[in-house]
Amino acid sequence: MIRIPRGTQDILPEDSSKWRYIENKLDELMKLYNYKEIRTPIFESTDLFARGVGDSTDVVQKEMYTFKDKGDRSLTLRPEGTAAVVRSYIENKMQGYPNQPIKLYYNGPMFRYERKQKGRFRQFNQFGIEAIGAENPSIDAEVLAMVMHIYESFGLKHLKLVINSIGDANSRKEYNEALVKHFEPVIDTFCEDCQSRLHTNPMRILDCKIDRDKEAVKNAPRITDYLNEASKAYYEEVKSYLTDLGVDYVEDPNLVRGLDYYTHTAFEVMMDNPNYDGAITTLCGGGRYNGLLELLDGPSQTGIGFALSIERLLLALEEEGIELDIGEEFDLFIVTMGDEAERYSVKLLNHLRKNGIKADKDYLKRKIKGQMKQADRLNAKYTIVIGDQELANNEIDIKNMATGESETVKVDELVQYFKQ
Ligand code: HAM
Repeated sequence: MIRIPRGTQDILPEDSSKWRYIENKLDELMKLYNYKEIRTPIFESTDLFARGVGDSTDVVQKEMYTFKDKGDRSLTLRPEGTAAVVRSYIENKMQGYPNQPIKLYYNGPMFRYERKQKGRFRQFNQFGIEAIGAENPSIDAEVLAMVMHIYESFGLKHLKLVINSIGDANSRKEYNEALVKHFEPVIDTFCEDCQSRLHTNPMRILDCKIDRDKEAVKNAPRITDYLNEASKAYYEEVKSYLTDLGVDYVEDPNLVRGLDYYTHTAFEVMMDNPNYDGAITTLCGGGRYNGLLELLDGPSQTGIGFALSIERLLLALEEEGIELDIGEEFDLFIVTMGDEAERYSVKLLNHLRKNGIKADKDYLKRKIKGQMKQADRLNAKYTIVIGDQELANNEIDIKNMATGESETVKVDELVQYFKQ
């Protein structure tokens, strides 16, 4: 038997309504903040991620689904959205659009070859935003407040916003030098990847999945001690905006994020429920990326964004016992008695549906009781029974399933009845 690939999942009808509800709500929220949707391809050229996300990140080194197409081009199923959105921004010269900054959001599947765990998949669905073209602490704070607004609007309460500053390129340079000095004496005890990262990208040692629990990682220098004045001032302003906005946060000087493009503001939203038994508590991650556009041969614009996976949002909802108010309603189930009635109901259904009424009938020649059960299972608001008598009189009794009351209606007036 052929089975579903490891780390992927089918979203079955009983769950897909939750997904649709969440996605619709996210679309609505984006309107409040003036973000517009962008859709980019599922695969991109491999170089985009190697350069954008960073050659020495775990994502690029270990987790990408990379393949050659028939024209011998190296392509990769996108592991994240930022590099692709930035590529599109540059290619479409969005810096020239009249409305600046450019505020974009996306929602779609991403792919990473990771070890399957609760909340960790190989195909997962990221909803993310990117605001490109403004370097202003107020937009950083707005993005953070927006993330919390999103989670709160689904009813989630037990969350923690964790923030840090990674500083600008100069701060990072000094920090990297300090890390090299710190790790050099013990690097032999680290994994091969970390050994090769020491001189290319020592910050990545801090989030290596193999070595991150080592003592030397725990007591490594902290980026916050290497921020220059400009970076410190930017960070302080972001925090003071957050205070103005009443957004609670905790600072974690060890939060460096796993992708290379971050500068200044970095953040994650974590589940804050001590009883949660899963290993993964990060719901969302993001930050500012000041050098990324130039790195990808674009203009010297800067951006900030975040991404969250719908899978982890659903997990958090489940953890907090929150039922989404999906409110799926079905208008009418037609119960038929006899062949003639069934033939008639096919035409009637066609007419009702074309007039916007959600309606269905039995297809399995069930007895009346079975058909009624089917109406119940569908949560139909109304049922009608069509038999010889109804056909002869052109009148039917329409039964309100909630109250049990019936009314007699002319078949021709059924659409009108629903419209009212
Ligand atoms: P990231 O931290 O790699 O950042 O991923 C962001 C979010 O995607 C995570 O917090 C988690 O919700 C979800 N996620 C990541 N990997 C998995 C997985 N294997 N299974 C389920 N969910 C997962 C980024 O991707 C950046 N592009 C975010 C960003 C946007 N930064 C600036 N703009």
